[in-house]
Amino acid sequence: MIKNPFQPIPAKIIDIIEETPNIRTFVLDLLGADFSFDAGQFVSLTVPGVGEAPFTPSSAPYVKDTIEMTIMKVGKVTSKLFELPIGAFVGIRGPFGKRYPIEKFEGKEVLILGGGVGLAPLRSLFLALCANLEKYKKIFIKYGARTPKDIVYKKQLSEWKNLKGVEVQLTVDNADKGWRGKVGVVTILLDDPKLNNTSEMIAVVCGPPIMMKFGTIKLLEKGFQGQNIYLSMEKNMSCGIGQCGHCRCGQYFVCKDGPVLTWEQIKDIEDPF
Ligand SMILES: Cc1cc2nc3c(=O)[nH]c(=O)nc-3n(C[C@H](O)[C@H](O)[C@H](O)COP(=O)(O)OP(=O)(O)OC[C@H]3O[C@@H](n4cnc5c(N)ncnc54)[C@H](O)[C@@H]3O)c2cc1C
Ligand code: FES
Repeated sequence: MIKNPFQPIPAKIIDIIEETPNIRTFVLDLLGADFSFDAGQFVSLTVPGVGEAPFTPSSAPYVKDTIEMTIMKVGKVTSKLFELPIGAFVGIRGPFGKRYPIEKFEGKEVLILGGGVGLAPLRSLFLALCANLEKYKKIFIKYGARTPKDIVYKKQLSEWKNLKGVEVQLTVDNADKGWRGKVGVVTILLDDPKLNNTSEMIAVVCGPPIMMKFGTIKLLEKGFQGQNIYLSMEKNMSCGIGQCGHCRCGQYFVCKDGPVLTWEQIKDIEDPF
């Protein structure tokens, strides 16, 4: 039978993890559905009676029975989602778009640069890389949040820094009394003498548009190559399958050709973020 791309499959909320005051990770049971995704792909999440919105799973792609999404409350769909209790049902369509080409990352140093809730797709990618950590020369995770309270995955971040070959660095825009780490926007973490082989390194970036823009500028200044800078593009989505044109970015349909595009692909597009 041909799968209808507009027909969501039902999924049950089995856990809700409070990451920050306005970001939660929703753990969904896929109820045995034949569903899988690769890191970088996104899904459309339907909240019954309200509508749907695109989100990138934040869980490991090799986990098959459940899927996790880390979601910031911003508007109509997300506000209603935040009202749902454990046990409620939502719908999922997808997966859509292209995956991170992780085979191209093998043997290289990989820089994961995240801002705010943008660490969500990067967590899925990192967990995919962790399945074969020995294949990558080194992984740098550099993450920025507005305040210490806005840091997602606090426990995992402190565990990941103990993994061999993984380095984790955090910064906040505004510190509080207890914060002992760095203060400043995430791009300050790129002033790192250990990033000394940048022309060969891979950078994977996800965060708010302003961070994507200034992050890319700084990566280029530091010597990263446009074809090695992978950017998670967030455009308005509707169909998710390259038919409606809502997600257009220059010659690309972000839902189909992205959501991950390299700087090399989008560098000539006016105001791509
Ligand atoms: C491919 C893709 C992957 C995404 N993955 C994630 C993810 O993993 N986690 C996640 O939290 N979000 C993610 N987003 C963003 C998410 O789709 C939007 O936040 C969501 O559509 C908002 O829906 P809403 O109905 O709640 O808000 P709406 O009612 O549509 O918007 C209400 C208001 O919020 C503003 N707004 C909308 N989105 C944002 C935003 N992201 N930040 C700040 N203000 C916003 C709008 O401009 C509007 O003013 C992703 C988007 C795309 C395209
Ligand atoms: S969302 Fe319809 S073409 Fe991309």
